[in-house]
Amino acid sequence: MTARILNGNAIRDQIYTELQTEITALGARGIQPGLAAVLVGDNPASKLYVNSKIAACAKLGLASFLITPPATISTEELLAIVADLNRRDDVDGILVQMPLPKQIDSKRILDTVDPSKDVDGFHPENVGRLVAGRPKLVACTPAGVMEILRRSGIPIEGANAVVMGRSDIVGKPMALLLLHANATVTICHSKTRALAETVRRADIVVAAMGRAAMVTPDYIRPGATVIDVGQNVVNSAADAERIFAKFPEKIEAFRKKGSVLVGDVHPDVVETAGAFTPVPGGVGPLTIAMLMSNTVRAASLRRLHLAAEAAHAER
Ligand code: GUN
Repeated sequence: MTARILNGNAIRDQIYTELQTEITALGARGIQPGLAAVLVGDNPASKLYVNSKIAACAKLGLASFLITPPATISTEELLAIVADLNRRDDVDGILVQMPLPKQIDSKRILDTVDPSKDVDGFHPENVGRLVAGRPKLVACTPAGVMEILRRSGIPIEGANAVVMGRSDIVGKPMALLLLHANATVTICHSKTRALAETVRRADIVVAAMGRAAMVTPDYIRPGATVIDVGQNVVNSAADAERIFAKFPEKIEAFRKKGSVLVGDVHPDVVETAGAFTPVPGGVGPLTIAMLMSNTVRAASLRRLHLAAEAAHAER
């Protein structure tokens, strides 16, 4: 038996249809949500991600503002850009694409983003709200994984969930969201002993370590749901042929392009899992969908709150 494919593109389209209704309703009140993206330097992967985010804004009718300072920018200069975006009324969401160049104090930058505009959910106030079970703006990738699980009817309550990876962007918030949905959560990382054995107890595995094809079928309990957050570029023919030995169309794609994308989950897991997210076309589309959702949410919260305050002042 082969696993059910959890189609991220289809779930994204569902979410966009729902968001479109909210965006139209805001438009009727004269509000167009706006997202500002700060892309420092010219890291090709970051450029690709930011361009997809801007394209999603255009598709949904959100305003977008792209700010592209040079890689040589100082922390102080970048702080000034963020402070300006904090003040602008046409900017509802601010995202500073990570990673930032070495000379930049990333923590200071993230701490400076107005928490009510922090559509990445990286500000300590939003992280704290998530920990406390009173979330407002939640990190996009883990929020997207929850949408995939919920909208695919995967039971979470009481399930054993194993999160592989403990990053601030994915692993930690992922574990908290699963915990709040009443899963029994284990977080594994590079120092975890008996890793395969631990992951094999999971009903739900979220792989987010950033290691190409590391999760092989022997990690997976037959029938488990496997969510693959990894996006690794394979550049060597030998690696591509080894990983995709059973997938000739992927090897063919590698020959044409000179590279192929692989998740943190080995493609052979399709033979063991009950359900899984493909790479590409699984979690990726949801990350952007949740960024759009957070931007619309931030616009509603901030601008309707401001409107309520203005009405109060008039009285
Ligand atoms: N770099 C990798 N993932 C992300 C993300 O979700 N947001 C931002 N801003 N940078 C990232």
